[in-house]
Amino acid sequence: MSTQFDTLLSMAKVAATKAYAPYSNFQVGAAIHTRNGQTFMGCNVENASYGMAICAERNAITTAVTESVQPGEIDELVLYIDRPELFSPCGACRQVISEFMKPDAKVTACNKNGETKTWTVQGLLPDGFSMPED
Ligand code: THU
Repeated sequence: MSTQFDTLLSMAKVAATKAYAPYSNFQVGAAIHTRNGQTFMGCNVENASYGMAICAERNAITTAVTESVQPGEIDELVLYIDRPELFSPCGACRQVISEFMKPDAKVTACNKNGETKTWTVQGLLPDGFSMPED
């Protein structure tokens, strides 16, 4: 039986094959799961103007938001790269992740050797910025 993690890893692998990364050749896939069982994926999309690259995590999250996913509803995010290294989400993605995932939700990075590293959202971005409540 496939676990939620296995499903997300399969999706992240598919997403990585769609990456548009001709400048870095660093093809990233991301997949997310929501509390009501929806799944979404995203890949990184680069540009000749290098600073405009959009990461896989943010593309997955913005895709979910276009389907009405609200802050706090994403309960797991899995990342994949078809390389031997493991990497962690960039700072910009950590901020966006913390907007849409609860502090104890899990983020896992996976590589081509089947190695994984898991963090909580809180662990990725301690003391992150959020708007004060009115
Ligand atoms: N990248 C991601 O997609 N996610 C991250 O968390 C780190 C970096 C992408 C952006 C760029 O297309 C390439 O990887 C190299 O930085």
